[in-house]
Amino acid sequence: MMRQCCRWLAALLAALVLCGEAESSEALYFPCRSCHGDNGGGNEAMGAPAIAAMDAKYLARQLRNFRDGKRGMSLDDPEGRQMNLIMTILTDDEEIDQLARFVEAMPPTMPLRTLPAPAADVASLYQACAICHGADGEGRDEMNAPALARLDDWYISAQLRKFRDGIRGAAAGDMLGAQMRASVSNLDNRSMDKLAASIVRLASD
Ligand code: HEC
Ligand code: HEC
Repeated sequence: MMRQCCRWLAALLAALVLCGEAESSEALYFPCRSCHGDNGGGNEAMGAPAIAAMDAKYLARQLRNFRDGKRGMSLDDPEGRQMNLIMTILTDDEEIDQLARFVEAMPPTMPLRTLPAPAADVASLYQACAICHGADGEGRDEMNAPALARLDDWYISAQLRKFRDGIRGAAAGDMLGAQMRASVSNLDNRSMDKLAASIVRLASD
C-alpha cells in the first residue's frame, strides 16, 4: 500500500514538472533588479557591477563560480557574499544559461568614470592586459578573458585588488581566476586606479 502510494506520488510529481511552465527570463531576472538595476547598469552604492550586454559565457561562469563557492566565499568579500546568497535560489544550470543569454541581450550601458583621468603613461601599463583582454578592452573569447570596457572604473579597481589579495581567483579549481591573479600580483593600488581609469576610457575615446 505504502509503496503503491509512493509510486503514485512520484508519477504525479513527474507530471507536474513536465506540465510546469519554464520560468520566463524576465522572472529569472526579477531578483537581480534591486542591485543590478532594471537596465543592468549596476549600482555603485551596492557594489553591484554593470552586467547588461555582458558575454553570456563569462556571465554564466561567474554565476556558477558564486553558486559553487569558487567566488565570493572569502570573509573579506562582502560584495561576493551577496551573490553567493542570491545563487542559493538559482541553482539550475539551464536557468543560469537562460538568464545569462537574457542579460547578454540587454542594451549596453555607459560605464561610470569616478577616478581622475589617467596620465598619458598608462598605455604601457595596459599593454600587459591587452594580450588577453584585447587592445580596446573588448575581451578575447579564445583567452576566456571578459570585456572590460563597459565596466565602471570603481568596479575594475576593486576587482584588481581582490585578485591581487587572493579574495578572488584563489579558490581550488579556479584556473582562469588564477591566471588573472598572476597578472596583477605586482601592481600597487595607485597603478590599479590608473589602469581602471584608462580602461573605462578605452571604448568611448
Ligand atoms: C543583493 C544585491 C545583489 C543581487 C540581488 C544580485 N547581485 Fe549580482 N552582484 C552583486 C554584487 C555586490 C556584485 C559584485 C561582487 C564582487 O565584488 O565580486 C555582483 C556581481 C555579479 C556578477 C559578476 C560580474 C562580473 O563582472 O564578474 C554577475 C554576473 C552578477 N552579479 C549577476 C547577477 C544576477 C544575474 C543576479 C540575479 C539572479 C544578481 N546578480 C543579483 C550584488 C547583487
Ligand atoms: C593571461 C591572461 C590575462 C591577463 C594577462 C590579464 N587578464 Fe584579466 N582576466 C583574465 C581572465 C581569464 C579573467 C576571467 C577570470 C574569471 O573567469 O573569473 C579575467 C578577469 C579580469 C577582470 C574581472 C572582470 C569582471 O567583470 O569582473 C578584470 C577587471 C581584469 N581581468 C583586468 C585585467 C587587467 C587590468 C589586466 C592587466 C594588468 C589583466 N586583466 C590581465 C585573463 C587575463
